[in-house]
Amino acid sequence: MGFKQVLICQNRTCHKQGSDKILVLFKDESPPDVQIQGIGCLGQCGNGPMMIVLPDEVWYSHLEPMDVSTIIQQHLQGGCPVEALRMKVKK
Ligand code: FES
Repeated sequence: MGFKQVLICQNRTCHKQGSDKILVLFKDESPPDVQIQGIGCLGQCGNGPMMIVLPDEVWYSHLEPMDVSTIIQQHLQGGCPVEALRMKVKK
């Protein structure tokens, strides 16, 4: 499946929306071969907490603590992005 990296915005707006809790949960629950990292603004302030999974370039927005185990099981372990939680791009 290859190496994955999870970047979770810890900048002001996402932080106010609870991104610090999301970061802690990912660090606690992710498989050891996934790198979890806090990062500065991802340019999507207001849609937070925001995160991106690399190298897949899958963006997740409006994360809730209960979403973390879903993303870990389906995407990080199972290799299938969680479509319902992906960032909605306005058209
Ligand atoms: S503060 Fe998180 S995307 Fe800007």
